Amino acid sequence: MSSQPKLHVLFNRQEIEATVSRLAAEISQDYHDRHPLLIGVLKGSFMLMADLIRHLDFPLEVDFIGLSSYGKDRQTSGKVKVVHELSTPIKGREVLVIDDIVDTGLTVSFLLDYLRKKKPASLKLCALTDKPSRRRVPVTIDYLGFTVPNKFIVGYGLDWDEKFRNLPDICFLEGED
Ligand code: IMP
Ligand code: MG
Repeated sequence: MSSQPKLHVLFNRQEIEATVSRLAAEISQDYHDRHPLLIGVLKGSFMLMADLIRHLDFPLEVDFIGLSSYGKDRQTSGKVKVVHELSTPIKGREVLVIDDIVDTGLTVSFLLDYLRKKKPASLKLCALTDKPSRRRVPVTIDYLGFTVPNKFIVGYGLDWDEKFRNLPDICFLEGED
């Protein structure tokens, strides 16, 4: 049996809750009268999406898009493809992308370029976490939850080989960075 990596809490559930409320307040201020379409990036954003939209007390729609990067799961190669398409046309819509983490930035910059070509009225990015130390392409994060150190993080939707998405806290894996 393979040994389980050791987990350390980086942000606990109360800190996450406070941060999600803060993000919701910022997003409400900007989008309350714009009927936005929130697009979650599968799978890592599902928990943030579920918690965030419960704080948003105005008309909005939700969709999801699935992306996969070629190469090993933990190492983004930069070549990204859409594996689960949107179910909503986004032309002329006020689009807000909801993502779990901006690491090298390659995945989300591919996604933003891909969406921009569909001519939304506006396109912004909300990310739960940002790992700026590993950035390879510049990315503007309009609504940011947490800045994280150069460590591999899991929990609250984020996975390690599909595991640990269910943790209510954001943790880092000992020795994995
Ligand atoms: P990118 O390097 O910015 O393209 O990151 C692409 C994807 O890699 C993210 O959306 C995550 O799914 C995954 N990823 C990057 N860093 C981490 C991490 O620390 N924990 C879990 N997933 C990560
Ligand atoms: Mg992942």
